[in-house]
Amino acid sequence: MNKKILLSGIQPSGALHIGNYLGAIKQWVDLQSDYRVFAMIADLHAITVPQEPEALRSKTLEVAALLVACGIDPEKSVIFVQSHVPAHTQLAWVLNTITPLGELERMTQFKDKAHIKYEFWTEMARYYRDTGELLVQITKHLENENGNDPEKNLKLKIKITGALGQSGFETIDKLFQIEKTREEVLAGILNYPVLMAADILLYQTNVVPVGEDQQQHLELTRTLANKFNNRFGETFRIPKAHIQKDTARLMGLDDPSKKMSKSAPSANNYIGLLDTPDDIRRKIKVAVTDSGKEIIYDEEAKPAIANLLRIFSAFSQSAIADIENQYRGKSYAEFKNDLAELLVAKLEPIQRRYHALSQDEAGLRAALRRGAEQAHTIAQGTLRSVYEKVGFAV
Ligand code: TRP
Repeated sequence: MNKKILLSGIQPSGALHIGNYLGAIKQWVDLQSDYRVFAMIADLHAITVPQEPEALRSKTLEVAALLVACGIDPEKSVIFVQSHVPAHTQLAWVLNTITPLGELERMTQFKDKAHIKYEFWTEMARYYRDTGELLVQITKHLENENGNDPEKNLKLKIKITGALGQSGFETIDKLFQIEKTREEVLAGILNYPVLMAADILLYQTNVVPVGEDQQQHLELTRTLANKFNNRFGETFRIPKAHIQKDTARLMGLDDPSKKMSKSAPSANNYIGLLDTPDDIRRKIKVAVTDSGKEIIYDEEAKPAIANLLRIFSAFSQSAIADIENQYRGKSYAEFKNDLAELLVAKLEPIQRRYHALSQDEAGLRAALRRGAEQAHTIAQGTLRSVYEKVGFAV
């Protein structure tokens, strides 16, 4: 059994939707015959944002059952929960010691989550160069010498503002805001990609299916693997990204300019894999459409209809051109109606399997335990070799 290794992770937060299914899960399912698939439920990653403990626990089991219901076969693939395999955090620690802070601060996802505008710091750096006094003041402040003393902060603010002139006021305001954010941003978000690198490298993974938003993390993984290999000798396989096909990219039903997202403010953004038939019908009915009335694929002029066509095409497995033909001269309402019924029919078997699996929690937990044991055996081998190379007295 010399299959190549594919690893992917999914966080147990929010509702899994058809975008996750087409963009990720279905691809893993299809690749199971060619690859040894490691399907990991990334609960350690999930807690980088606050989670309700009971909700996290039930979501973890829900995602596991859903993955199996979607076709990840526990007999063929290794499906496991990240926190069940201690080697993930153990390797992450070692990798942290070779990860430059700057690399982590540059990650787009970190900047997004931390609301830190990199350009802003660049801007500040320019001021630093120009005014020596400002540099001293700001550095002091950043080192928290002012604590949270509002009076001192105000004085400092006035001083800096004076140095910058009226036009700089907004900038300084932003600086204060950003510093506050820095106080609130937790280190887990910064170190998130290091843990992800550990996930991937532990299994000598060949390919990692990733969406656009995770590509940068995979690049970092490759960088860290090369760095470790160069310093300590060949240890890790350098993984490759398996970029998702564009057709699999689904946009929000309520806003086709943004990716379908399980953390979207409104549940009308997505069709959840566990949505009831009535939910599905209602959500498709209220999904935004474009002006005009023809059902044609035009991403520029008709982004909403293009998105619905992609969904139709993916679930019916027919070409978009055929669907356009089929609906020539027909109304948006008719098209939407058929799309809703298609989704109801296609999700029904997944939901049926899901409900059967979730009735048997003990069985599900046992399957996850077996998955974790298999994962542990492999991960432990890599971890041991890392420990030896860095000089631990194993
Ligand atoms: N960070 C990924 C996401 O949010 C989930 C993830 C964790 C992952 N570890 C991974 C994906 C390893 C691929 C490989 O989508």
